[in-house]
Amino acid sequence: MKYILMHKNISVAEIKIDDAVGVITEVSNVLRKEHLPIGVIHSLRHKEIVDRAALNHWWRRRSIPASRMGISDALDSLGLYETGELLTKCFGLSLSDHYWVKPFESALTWEKVNFFDNDFSDDIGDVLLGTSRKISDFDFLSPDNTSDGNLKKRWKIINGKRCLLKSGSELFRQQPFNEVIASKIMERLGIDHVSYRIIWNENEPFSVCENFVTNNTELISAYRILQIRPKENNENEYLHYVNICKELGVKNIVSAIDAMIVTDYLIANEDRHFNNFGLLRNADTLEWIGAAPIFDSGNSLWYNIAEKNIPYADVKCKPFKKSHSEQLRLVSDLKRFDFSKLNGIEDEITEILLSENSRNFIDESRSEIIAASVRKRIDHLQKMALDYNQSIDNSFTENDLEENIAEEYDMKIE
Ligand SMILES: Nc1ncnc2c1ncn2[C@@H]1O[C@H](COP(=O)(O)OP(=O)(O)O)[C@@H](O)[C@H]1O
Ligand SMILES: [Mg+2]
Repeated sequence: MKYILMHKNISVAEIKIDDAVGVITEVSNVLRKEHLPIGVIHSLRHKEIVDRAALNHWWRRRSIPASRMGISDALDSLGLYETGELLTKCFGLSLSDHYWVKPFESALTWEKVNFFDNDFSDDIGDVLLGTSRKISDFDFLSPDNTSDGNLKKRWKIINGKRCLLKSGSELFRQQPFNEVIASKIMERLGIDHVSYRIIWNENEPFSVCENFVTNNTELISAYRILQIRPKENNENEYLHYVNICKELGVKNIVSAIDAMIVTDYLIANEDRHFNNFGLLRNADTLEWIGAAPIFDSGNSLWYNIAEKNIPYADVKCKPFKKSHSEQLRLVSDLKRFDFSKLNGIEDEITEILLSENSRNFIDESRSEIIAASVRKRIDHLQKMALDYNQSIDNSFTENDLEENIAEEYDMKIE
């Protein structure tokens, strides 16, 4: 079927989508190149073209990942084969950005369809959480059709605010609590973050956060930013991202990444992949606003590791380095963080981990081991910051960066 790819009320390109499988089969006419999704224009023999494969990749990444917990049951309930089929059923609308697809020659407008101002159906959220009582006549108009990530989740309007509810995974259901703990740590350190709280639904904990995207701003993932241009030979992943941000005129990107790396070290985050952070831009003027507040910090704090193994656990690290000790070396200014603000955080951590019904999943000894492990990490950073006199010029290459810092510290972190 023929559609117009829209950015709010701007017609960006005429496209054809095979609705049965959710694939863009044709891009016939580009109307506003600058409003195309980030990273879908490539150069071919000195000419800029819309790369249909890249546009399809962007489009497919809007659908719920096949790895989402419980997705095959949800698809069975809806009578669908793949999550891609859900996209056009809600015009591809999301609550994280302002793109959508308008059936050709329809009179729909952004004001009429967007989920920021208009209510949306609970049907798909109910199905995704496995709580639906319906077996047919689903109302597909929901931002849940375009939500990313593996945890069971849904958008819900609570007191007039669009909120994202996310579950935890077996055995410990720890992610919702971890989101709250990460919020508290960042709040104390003065790091820009999304604030999470817990709600319980039938003895199951969910994290709740408000939408940080508005009718004028949108989230562009770091993954998309990296599609803007290939990595140069003298760039590592870190510099590839930082340099593109600088080329876009984004201010304070190094300090925002410093804060993210420090947070991820403190909470032993294993999942800061390139779709779990990004930039905010003004959707109308296309001006870059800066780094998005830090969200999705739940796969951390040894969330899937039995407590006896926590002290010896090999914590995975993303996105720039394979180990947190290596990644910490990319921090340009550790002294800026006042780690004494984290004094007593252990009590807050155990309190959060042991709140209400969480004792069904997490016991006292687990919570104490986690709190003590965070304390160790704080102590380590505090010591590092004391010794740390070197500020890094980020125009250096990776080897320069690492040599500089390695000379300063001969320390093993994990
Ligand atoms: N508060 C929020 N406001 C707007 N978009 C959000 C918010 N939180 C998450 N998102 C979007 O939803 C996606 C999935 O949420 P995320 O917290 O990353 O879930 P998961 O833990 O399953 O990966 C994110 O990648 C981001 O695009
Ligand atoms: Mg995520």
